[in-house]
Amino acid sequence: MTRDKAAPAGIDPTIPSVARVYDFFLGGKDNFEADRKVAEHALRITPDGPAAGQANRAFLRRVIRYLVTEAGIDQFLDIGSGLPTQGNVHEVATEQNPKAQVVYVDNDPIVLTHGRALLAAEGTATVIQADIREPQAILNHPDARRFLDFDRPIGLLLFAILHHLGDDEDPKAVAAALIDALPSGSYVAISHFRDPGDRDPEGSRKAREVERVFNESLGTGRAGAGG
Ligand SMILES: C[S@@+](CC[C@H](N)C(=O)[O-])C[C@H]1O[C@@H](n2cnc3c(N)ncnc32)[C@H](O)[C@@H]1O
Repeated sequence: MTRDKAAPAGIDPTIPSVARVYDFFLGGKDNFEADRKVAEHALRITPDGPAAGQANRAFLRRVIRYLVTEAGIDQFLDIGSGLPTQGNVHEVATEQNPKAQVVYVDNDPIVLTHGRALLAAEGTATVIQADIREPQAILNHPDARRFLDFDRPIGLLLFAILHHLGDDEDPKAVAAALIDALPSGSYVAISHFRDPGDRDPEGSRKAREVERVFNESLGTGRAGAGG
């Protein structure tokens, strides 16, 4: 059994969180027994969960490199950013352009705690605790306004976040509110859980089963239908 370090103040380690379950999938150490139980349940259904997480991170890094080097983007708004891991957005971006700026946003307080520790010495990024379901609160947050110039193109990153909203929370309207606020020349990149449907009935069954596990234990996580 893995011995857990003490949870940061204000974090209840007995209640699993999306950020910490995902951290476990990525091989991170910022998770607790309750998180690992959820992850291990999902892994019994889809052993390729970690590979999917790594593929998502690889896609994220590719997007950043493309946006900085090919599209000239030097400022990013990363919502549902997750716990710090290898190849964080500001690290990949500043490798290509040392002047790049990043605003990380997540509603899990553990992300704020670990993000602040990581970023303490750096002036290239900041982390905000906010909820994507309140896009105006993110857009008007003083740190977002301080780090991002809304008169120049911005890269909006919505990686593995919109599937954590229920249909009743209108993810399309949430995304539209964020996109509408971006200056001309901006980009948006999205990744999402996927249910392959009839093209892959076995994959579809697993996607629905993992969806059920996540909803029962985390109260969130929906696979979008996709071919
Ligand atoms: C699966 S992780 C994705 C992390 C990172 N974007 C990536 O793709 O590697 C989803 C993140 O979204 C955050 N999240 C979930 N619901 C949220 C909400 N309503 N508002 C802000 N963040 C949220 C979770 O705390 C978690 O850190």
